[in-house]
Amino acid sequence: MKGLILSGGTGTRLRPLTYTTTKQLVPVANRPILFYVIDQVVQAGIKDIGIIISPDTGQPVQDQVGDGSRWGVSITYIVQDKPAGLAHAVKTARPFLGDDPFLMFLGDNLIEGGVRTLAQGFAESGADAAILLKRVADPRRFGVAVLDERQQVVRLVEKPKDPPSDLALVGIYLFSPAIHEAIDAIKPSWRGELEITDAIQKLIETGHRVEARILDGWWLDTGKKDEILEANRVVLDAYAVQSIDGVVDEESVISGRVQIAKGAEVRRSTIRGPVVIGAGAVVIDSFIGPFTAVGEGSHLERVAVEHSVILEGCELRDIPRLEDSLLGRNVKVGSGDGRSNAFRLFVGDDSELKL
Ligand code: DAU
Repeated sequence: MKGLILSGGTGTRLRPLTYTTTKQLVPVANRPILFYVIDQVVQAGIKDIGIIISPDTGQPVQDQVGDGSRWGVSITYIVQDKPAGLAHAVKTARPFLGDDPFLMFLGDNLIEGGVRTLAQGFAESGADAAILLKRVADPRRFGVAVLDERQQVVRLVEKPKDPPSDLALVGIYLFSPAIHEAIDAIKPSWRGELEITDAIQKLIETGHRVEARILDGWWLDTGKKDEILEANRVVLDAYAVQSIDGVVDEESVISGRVQIAKGAEVRRSTIRGPVVIGAGAVVIDSFIGPFTAVGEGSHLERVAVEHSVILEGCELRDIPRLEDSLLGRNVKVGSGDGRSNAFRLFVGDDSELKL
């Protein structure tokens, strides 16, 4: 079985971060989301993985992920010329996929427990597709499935205004090569995309078997700021361990699961986990509260922060309280020069500030 990870698309909902990177490379707990996705595909026993990239943002993906040797697998990059839909991405990957069955994983989705059991079950089932569903409060943002009383999928609809159920399609799918014919038979949707949801619906209409499993554990779809913060919270909660490889002075208090990478330095500060602090970061006279990730080389002085993601190279000084915040790379935040109470900002396009 092959793996197909989708890391193309535009990432408009995560601007301004996605002006310089792709949303799948935004780190949670100081590690790109895409790395967790690759972990899960590899854990399912898949060794031949294709990654869909866009012409604009593909290079940083290739630079960071490499050829797969870090995971002991082979990675092939497939350029999708435009973000014309998930089914269009599969069509683009056809030469790589050949006639093999494959696991398709959206590069911004993460689930609890991984996909190993799902992939094994599919290989044994003889079905032409398997989808993963999760009950959600607002299904209108997703593909939605209707099941019959025997738990068979009878209908799928993409982003319905009036959802026929609360079962959202998680961005993880298994397909036999029958999906390619179904994709050839569909037309672009109202939003101009070739929808994988429509292709699976086509499989059902042409008498193919589509299986569904309902996911009990967490599911993270990380397309927006608050979803990144939630992913950071969940991932830190699930995976952070106490490991202190950096330097912590005697006046600092570290409690709970706090990871301090080599080369980081903590002075006269309190850190309450789960927290990760990247290599070379410096924290002085500060409080770092639960669910915070401080990126490599960032410098925090007289700052109190919690439930936030701070990427690499940031400089934060004299901030009495920062929470629920997502700061891009090399961001500088500090107090004024004391001459007036005015805020002085130099902020990129599409930024959001709540002062
Ligand atoms: O997250 C789950 C949802 O993902 C499903 O419930 C929907 O049925 C499915 O259509 C999809 O909806 P989204 O609107 O969230 O998809 P998005 O445009 O965000 O793209 C998902 C991923 O695929 C993202 O990592 C970017 C990548 N992508 C997207 C498109 C449209 C590509 O690589 N190529 C593309 O052409």
